[in-house]
Amino acid sequence: MTWLPAHRWHAGSFLEFAQVQPASAVMVTLDMFAEPQEHPDQLRMQALRAQLHQHAHQYYVLDTPLIPDAEYDRLFQELQALEAAHPEWATPDSPTQRVGGKPLDQFASVRHAVPMLSIRTETDTESSGAQAFDSRVRRELELTDTDPAVEYVAELKFDGLAINLRYVEGVLLQAATRGDGETGEDVTQNIRTIGQIPLRLPADAPAVLEVRGEVYMRRDDFETLNERQRARIAQGEKGEKTFVNPRNAAAGAVRQLDPAIAAQRPLSFFAYGVGEVAHGGPGNARFTTHMELLQTLKKWGFPVAEQVDTAQGAPELIAYHQRIGALRDQLPYDIDGVVYKVNSIALQQRLGFVSREPRWAVAHKYPAQEQLTTVLGIDVQVGRTGKLTPVAKLAPVFVGGVTVTNATLHNEDEARRKDVRVGDTVIVRRAGDVIPEVVGVVPKPEQPESERGPVFTMPRICPVCGSAAVREEGEADYRCTGGLFCGAQRKQAILHFAQRRAVEVEGLGDKLVEQLVDAGTIHTLPDLYRLGLTALASLDRMADKSAQNIVTALEKSKQTTLPRFLFGLGIRHVGESTAKALAKHFGQLDAIMDASEEALLEVNDVGPIVAKSLRTFFDQPHNREVVEQLRACGVHWPENEPTSAGPKPLAGKIFVITGTLPTLGRDAAKDLIEAAGGKVSGSVSKKTSYVLAGAEAGSKLDRALELGVAVIDESTLMEMIHGSM
Ligand code: IVH
Repeated sequence: MTWLPAHRWHAGSFLEFAQVQPASAVMVTLDMFAEPQEHPDQLRMQALRAQLHQHAHQYYVLDTPLIPDAEYDRLFQELQALEAAHPEWATPDSPTQRVGGKPLDQFASVRHAVPMLSIRTETDTESSGAQAFDSRVRRELELTDTDPAVEYVAELKFDGLAINLRYVEGVLLQAATRGDGETGEDVTQNIRTIGQIPLRLPADAPAVLEVRGEVYMRRDDFETLNERQRARIAQGEKGEKTFVNPRNAAAGAVRQLDPAIAAQRPLSFFAYGVGEVAHGGPGNARFTTHMELLQTLKKWGFPVAEQVDTAQGAPELIAYHQRIGALRDQLPYDIDGVVYKVNSIALQQRLGFVSREPRWAVAHKYPAQEQLTTVLGIDVQVGRTGKLTPVAKLAPVFVGGVTVTNATLHNEDEARRKDVRVGDTVIVRRAGDVIPEVVGVVPKPEQPESERGPVFTMPRICPVCGSAAVREEGEADYRCTGGLFCGAQRKQAILHFAQRRAVEVEGLGDKLVEQLVDAGTIHTLPDLYRLGLTALASLDRMADKSAQNIVTALEKSKQTTLPRFLFGLGIRHVGESTAKALAKHFGQLDAIMDASEEALLEVNDVGPIVAKSLRTFFDQPHNREVVEQLRACGVHWPENEPTSAGPKPLAGKIFVITGTLPTLGRDAAKDLIEAAGGKVSGSVSKKTSYVLAGAEAGSKLDRALELGVAVIDESTLMEMIHGSM
C-alpha cells in the first residue's frame, strides 16, 4: 500500500492528511487493503473521495470552504455517477454514504468494546465545586500541601448525546449511542449524515480507534428546524412536531429510523475522548496527556471545542468555571456545565474508577436554564407603551439561578402556538439576563383534551384601564388605546408630553415623574397643572428653588402650539411631522378630533394606519376627557383657519418637481401644490400625474418622457391652481 503525500497528487488545496492511494483492487470492505490496480475510473473515484473529504472538513469543521457549493455538488455528483457505474468500487467511507440508506425497523444492539462510563457530577454549582474536586484528587494521589498543583484539562460539557465512533483501518464503520454504558444502539446510518464527522482518517491514525464525543444541535439550527416543522404542521403534514430544545431535537434525529429524515436534521459534533485504541498498521499515535489526545483528534479532523484549556490546580479551575459561565449564553450551542479531567494519562490510570465513574474527571454544572413547573394562571400585563403581554403565572421554580414565578408568552400568536393552558406542566427557560419564557407544554397523554383549561384569548379591553385593546394589521401585539388615561402608561405619557419637542416642561425628568406617579400625586396629565408648590417641595430631595422652577416651567408650557400639543398626546404613529401636517391641514384641534378617517386621509403624510390610529385614539372618551381637562387647566395655542377650507383643484394629483423653477423655490412649490390638495413625490412612476420641470431638469424629466407622464412648467401649475385651465 502506498500513501502519497497529498501535495504530490494535487497542487495546493489539500490538507496534509488527505490520503490518496494510487490504486486499489476490487473493493470488498476497505479499499486500502486491496491490491493496486490501474483503472482510470477507480483512480478518479479515489481522488474524488479524497477531495470531497477535504472540502467537507473545510466546510463543516474549519468553517472555511475552499470551493463554492456548486463545485462541491459537481464533484459529488461525478462520484455518485461513477459509483452507480461501478458499485464494486463503492466504499463505506464515501461521502455519498452521508445521505443515508434505507429506513430500519429497529436499531441493532452494539456491545461497547470499552464501556461508556458516565462522570460524577459535582452537585455544588458554585465555584467551590472545583475546589472540592481538586481536594479529592490530591487526597487520592496522596499529595501534600507542598506538592505542586495537579494539571487538569477543562472542557465544556455539551448538552447533547454521547456517541461512540468506531474507525477500523481509518474508516468509520460503526457509530453507537451510549445506551446503558455496556450496550448501545447502532446509529451508523444517521451519524454518517453529520458533515463534521470524518468518514475516513489520515494514515497515522491507529488501526482501531474509537472516538467519543457529543452529538448536538446548534441553537440557530434548532430554530430553523422548528420553523420548518411549524410550516409543515401548518400545511397539514401528519406526524410532524416541533422540538422543545436543541438536545431533544438532536436525540430525536440520532434515534430516527429513517436516515433520510436524519439527514435533514442539522447536527453537529464535538470530540472529547476515546474508547478502544489498538495500535498497529500505520498508526502509531500514543498519548501521554489528555490535551495531547484532544489535539491529535483535532489534527485527524474531529471538531474539538476551542475553549479547551489546561488549568493548574483549583484556582485555575475556578477561573475557568467563571469564565465559561459568563460566556455561556454567547455560545452558539447549549452547555450545561464544564468538565475537568486530570491531564496526565498516567495519573488517570493511578486514580482509576469508583462504581463506574472515573476518579480523574468531574462534571461541574451551572444552574439549569430549563425546569418543569405548573401553570397557575395566565395574566395579561400592560407595558409602558401600552403593549399587552400574556404572562404565565407559575408555581415557583428555581431556574437559571433565580426563583421564577412569571414567564412571558410574548403575544397572542405565541401563546396559541405553544397552546399553554392553566394547569399544564410546562418547560420554563431562563438564560442569562433574558426574561424567563415558557418553552413548551409537556403533554400528559392520559389527560383528555376536555379536561384541559380553556384556550388563551387576548382580552379586547385593556386590563388596566378598560380602554379598547387593538391589534393593528400586520402586527403581533395588542395595544391599549387609552394612552393618556391608562395607569400602566402614565409615566411614559407624562414624559412624552413634557419633552422639549412637545409642550416642554423644563426640569420635569424621569426621576421626578417616577416620584410623582409612585407617590400618587399625579394620575393623569392634567394633574401636572394642578401641582402646587407645596406638593412639589414636599418631595424627597426637592429644594424650594427647584420646586419653584418646575411651577414656572409648567406655567410657561401652557402657551404652546397645536403641532406640539398634538405630538405631545403620544398618539401611536403620530410623530412631529405628522402632527405639523395635521395642524396645518385642519387648523383646529376639534376638527382633528372629529375628522373621519376619509377626511384624515386627505392630509399629506397621513396614510390608512395613521388615520385609523388617530380615530381610535379620539374615539376613547377617556382620551377626549384628558384633552378637555388640559384646556380647562389653561393649556392653549393659536388656532387657524383650516387650509383645507378652500377649493382643491389639485386633489388626487401627484407631482414630481425637477430642475430650477423660474420664480418658485422647491419648498414654496410644494406648499402651493399641497395647499391645493395635491401631493408631491420624490420619484417618477406610472402613478405620477405631472412632472413640474424647470431649467436643467435631469433624469426625472427623461423618466417622465419615457413613461409618457405629462410635463408642465411653473406657469401651467399656477394656472391649474388659480383656475382658467
Ligand atoms: S467525558 C469517562 N467530556 O456528559 C468520561 N463528557 O456523564 C466520559 N459530556 O453523557 C465523559 N461534554 O456525553 C465528557 N467534555 C465532555 C463532555 C461530556 C458532555 C456528556 C457525556 C455524558 C455525560 C457525562
